[in-house]
Amino acid sequence: MSDPGIAEKLVEVLHRPDGDPTMRPVHTIGISATGYFKPSPIARNFCAADHFNAEKTDVIVRFSNGSGCAIVHDGWSDVRGMAVRFHLSDSTDTDLIAMTLPEFFAPTPETFLEFAEAARPKPYEAETPWQKILNYLQLMLPKRDPYPGETISPDEGAIGFADNNAYSQLGILQAAQIGAPTSYVRAAYHAVHTFVVTGSDGTRRWVRFSWQPIAGVLRTDPTKTPDDDYLRAELRARLAKEPARFSLMMTIGEVGDDFGNSSRPWPPHRKRIMMGTLTLNAVPEDQFAQCEKLSFNPGLLTDGIEASDDPVLKVRIASYKISSEWRGGSPCPFSEG
Ligand code: HEM
Repeated sequence: MSDPGIAEKLVEVLHRPDGDPTMRPVHTIGISATGYFKPSPIARNFCAADHFNAEKTDVIVRFSNGSGCAIVHDGWSDVRGMAVRFHLSDSTDTDLIAMTLPEFFAPTPETFLEFAEAARPKPYEAETPWQKILNYLQLMLPKRDPYPGETISPDEGAIGFADNNAYSQLGILQAAQIGAPTSYVRAAYHAVHTFVVTGSDGTRRWVRFSWQPIAGVLRTDPTKTPDDDYLRAELRARLAKEPARFSLMMTIGEVGDDFGNSSRPWPPHRKRIMMGTLTLNAVPEDQFAQCEKLSFNPGLLTDGIEASDDPVLKVRIASYKISSEWRGGSPCPFSEG
């Protein structure tokens, strides 16, 4: 049983000194876009939720940089986020929040708190060329040089944590190599946790969702510098010309897969179902109300989709509500109780 105060401690520890208390403590810089979702013809067999049955469902999506730094650095190697809100036919909503890492850093709220404390940004000390050579000789990868103007970084704490905590190694290794996308719509995003879906015949399945960009994944534009602010302008220019699309893929877990621990991958040959296509075609004018103030929550589910027993998914419901209240966001779906 988790400490009841842990949801709040998590939000506290995620705040960076170069963040802004009126903005999100992580995934601080972002942009929203609107469009619609159309289910595939077989989706309803696997999930009876409204958006897999309706012909078309309106959506709002917020793309973001994972860092809690409030200054735009689109060229930083960083996890990116994609939060999707489906506006269902009975006027309720459901959210699907995803990021570019396929696995999370920790199996429980307590271990994630330990990780987040260890990974608090510390002054970034560049290695000298001699230290780099010494590292190579000891078969260790040298540290990257700090980005221009980068004075603090979570890297050292995170990597030190991975040395001592095997469960975090996959997530931290993937995060260390992730790079920067050329566009928010040229990255794949993963909802990471296991959800339980009920099909039209009542069968329940343990599944994980991912968004695959139809334009393909394209990482790291060598013409960009780390300080560039290009991702939001790129999305506006792209959507003004043509829509961007993603496929929603659902992987079905099998007996023996870890359903309650999002730091553990499933075998790659699991059955995947194409659940539908998301089309984005506009960027809302009012980015303050329709992006900055918006409050998503991974617990905002609908009939046909349930949370698994993953304790990290459960703590996020409370943490996002607290964070939304602290930053003065539009009411979190869980604020009324
Ligand atoms: C215990 C684990 C986690 C904690 C405590 C946590 C905490 C937070 C908080 C406090 C926010 C800001 C919420 C707001 O102010 O509206 C946030 C945003 C976000 N988180 Fe997490 N998070 C966790 C795990 C994850 C995971 C596993 C994912 C990926 C599936 C994820 C993806 C995101 C994204 C994409 C956003 C931005 C949402 C938006 O655009 O509004 N987080 N997180």
